[in-house]
Amino acid sequence: MNLDNRVALVTGSGRGIGRAIALKLAESGADLVINDFGDPAPAVIVAEEIKKLGRRAEVIMADVSQSAEVNRMVAEALEKFGQIDILVNNAGIARDQLVLKMTDEDWDRVLDVNLKSVFLCTRAVMRAMIKQRRGRIISIASVSGLLGNPGQANYAAAKAGILGFTRTVAKELASRGITANAVAPGLIDAGLGQALKEEYREEMRKHIPLGFLGTPQDVAEAVVFLAGDGARYITGQVLNVDGGMVVSW
Ligand SMILES: NC(=O)c1ccc[n+]([C@@H]2O[C@H](COP(=O)([O-])OP(=O)(O)OC[C@H]3O[C@@H](n4cnc5c(N)ncnc54)[C@H](O)[C@@H]3O)[C@@H](O)[C@H]2O)c1
Repeated sequence: MNLDNRVALVTGSGRGIGRAIALKLAESGADLVINDFGDPAPAVIVAEEIKKLGRRAEVIMADVSQSAEVNRMVAEALEKFGQIDILVNNAGIARDQLVLKMTDEDWDRVLDVNLKSVFLCTRAVMRAMIKQRRGRIISIASVSGLLGNPGQANYAAAKAGILGFTRTVAKELASRGITANAVAPGLIDAGLGQALKEEYREEMRKHIPLGFLGTPQDVAEAVVFLAGDGARYITGQVLNVDGGMVVSW
């Protein structure tokens, strides 16, 4: 996979799946904008790891649910690199609760971080990609958005929203040489997947035909494929990286 001379912006890439995606893109030749929110220390470490691979990396902290912060992040990235070829909308949170007990705040925050951010970041990079006549927009959805999941109405709604958004953007930007796709991980042994109760993880594992949890690297492989020239004829799709969970449900 050759991503030499490509610049990628990965949101929420200080840890977990985003970190694995950033590192895999760098291994494939891309320079990286590492974005995160809160403590910048993990993002700085990821940037150092990328520099050791011989690629450029800049940390730009921003809350991707906030329009002004997203616009500042993209402006800074363009100032530093002059181009953005690959956007990976990865940042995400969960605030699980049954609908009966879910607060407005839990609904709004999850929709803002997991879905509004995808709109804000995509809109912010679009102009540069249109000018370049080249771009890859890859958003991390979830099998929860396809199957539904008790306790995750906010999360599942946001992730399902990503799919409709992705198909629309794919159509709007196809004539500009830009593709938009989603990757829907199943249960991944990192980040949000690790935060789940062990009994629940064991119960879910029974629904995975391959019989084991995925790794952040499994998700990163799919993202790097969609980011590369080999995927030039793929747009508006959702690629499940789930050990077969969705087909067996
Ligand atoms: N782990 C899983 O099993 C799993 C399964 C399906 C989908 N996903 C999705 O994969 C993505 C990454 O999840 P993860 O498991 O690595 O979680 P994680 O908590 O390890 O990583 C999420 C990252 O997003 C960042 N972030 C949170 N809010 C942000 C904001 N407002 N602005 C910028 N950055 C922000 C966090 O600081 C963190 O670095 C998410 O979109 C998640 O929904 C994860």
